[in-house]
Amino acid sequence: MSIQEEVGKRRTFAIISHPDAGKTTMTEKMLLFGNMIRSAGTVKGKKSGKFATSDWMEIEKQRGISVTSSVMNFPYRGYQVNILDTPGHEDFSEDTYRTLTAVDAVVMIIDATKGIEAQTLKLFKVCRMRGIPIFTFMNKLDREGREPFDLLEEIETELEIETYPMTWPVGMGKRFEGVFDRHNEQFVRFSGDEREEYIPYSELDQHPELTENPTYKEAEDELSLVDEAGDTFEIEKVLRGEQTPVFFGSALAPFGVETFFDTFIDMAPAPTPRKSTKGLVSPENEEFSGFIFKIQANMNPKHRDRVAFVRVCSGKFERGMSVTLGRTGKAFKLAQSQQFVASSSNTVEEGYAGDIIGIYDPNVYRIGDTLLTGKETFEYDELPQFPPEQFKKVTAKNVMKSKQFYKGIEQLVQEGAIQLFKRPYFEDYIIGAVGELQFEVFEYRMKHEYNVDIELTPYGERIPRWLKEDQVDTSLFDDRNMLVEDREGNKVALFKNDFSLRWFVDKHPDMDLIDLFEVN
Ligand code: G4P
Repeated sequence: MSIQEEVGKRRTFAIISHPDAGKTTMTEKMLLFGNMIRSAGTVKGKKSGKFATSDWMEIEKQRGISVTSSVMNFPYRGYQVNILDTPGHEDFSEDTYRTLTAVDAVVMIIDATKGIEAQTLKLFKVCRMRGIPIFTFMNKLDREGREPFDLLEEIETELEIETYPMTWPVGMGKRFEGVFDRHNEQFVRFSGDEREEYIPYSELDQHPELTENPTYKEAEDELSLVDEAGDTFEIEKVLRGEQTPVFFGSALAPFGVETFFDTFIDMAPAPTPRKSTKGLVSPENEEFSGFIFKIQANMNPKHRDRVAFVRVCSGKFERGMSVTLGRTGKAFKLAQSQQFVASSSNTVEEGYAGDIIGIYDPNVYRIGDTLLTGKETFEYDELPQFPPEQFKKVTAKNVMKSKQFYKGIEQLVQEGAIQLFKRPYFEDYIIGAVGELQFEVFEYRMKHEYNVDIELTPYGERIPRWLKEDQVDTSLFDDRNMLVEDREGNKVALFKNDFSLRWFVDKHPDMDLIDLFEVN
């Protein structure tokens, strides 16, 4: 098969959702479609240890199939499906955001009884701002939930994205009858068992038991309204991330999942060209290239190795191949001992654009690094820096250990495990993270990899705003609204809360306060 054909088959995406919205259940159904597992059953009991294992590992453990903690891939209807895990909630970290740089689309699962929940809004917004195509699945229709119009309006206002209902539900909870599948012009009937019954629109008149039902009639009226007054479907808009196709159903039943998955797989984009220092690189380019979006340290002190996750962007990856590290221009052979992230077997022999490969990292890689073959060396655009939300002052418990302390911080910051800020004059080291787990991992690794016990003093949640150099006036800041510098020396104001931020903006309307989320 040609590179072009291989690339065209790839569908690389992440499922994003609020905890409990149904990500695990949905993933399990997708695995069922891919014949990765034989029977459905709820995958649960996730949080066992302190370092919560992800749902994927639980699936692996319980089902005895080979999926790794971060990526799953399987063939489906001629496509090669790659699903990337985005840790949520307790495991939330910059990795969650960075994973989004390695996917071509996202599936956003929303619990229809709740709508968009505050904690996940930011994650959804990052997708929206990065222009990633978003496909929405409104879950739990088998329960009484909020009105469909209401849910759609919420997505439109919160995410500033057009919605296009691909399916339209008839009732919900006990009155749930199924969905109109607007795309395939058929009614998908919910009968309570696992089978979905498809009735083409043209044959609906043969089903008076359905069409005479008041719930059905009500939904039919709503659908006419959507047809007349709603936005028209435009795939180009979807691919630019400006319109989201919305599907209704129940991951648990399961209902509407197959209709959703089939349509999604057909519509979701194959890998597209990616920006680099030498311009756009086509996925069909003969030369291999890829970038590292995540580095995972082994938590087991007996195995101090790390795994770097590479998203292949062009050409063909082959096991044991020689590559150049874009940052240094140095060529080397990828060790045979690489750990591969793959489908049914634990090693992949080859990979194409869209595939994710885990390689053994002997402490040389950094997040954002480019690996490539070919005469020309280049680097993919830097991964965006995501603003941390929590900040803590870090000191070594034992001052005699300061050498290891600085070395550890330097390396972990470079790796992208945590962000470092310094407070001018005080020389305090302040570390910032998106989620609490990042601090725990940092503390653990400082102890086990660098033999340093650290003390973390929380500053709590802060709102960071980057300042323009010529506008910095140190007298405006104090302990409450603290002024710090990031690694590049940029000044950053850490506001205590929304109120302080607003107050500051009112008092200093001329100052530009840059929210990195808006820039990304
Ligand atoms: P998550 O990975 O996003 O955290 O969600 P997960 O799939 O674990 O689902 C969270 C809960 O919601 C589970 O119930 C699951 O069974 C339920 N759920 C998922 N999809 C649906 C749906 O379409 N309809 C209904 N009614 N429930 C759904 P739980 O009580 O936490 O676990 P369990 O004891 O049922 O396994």
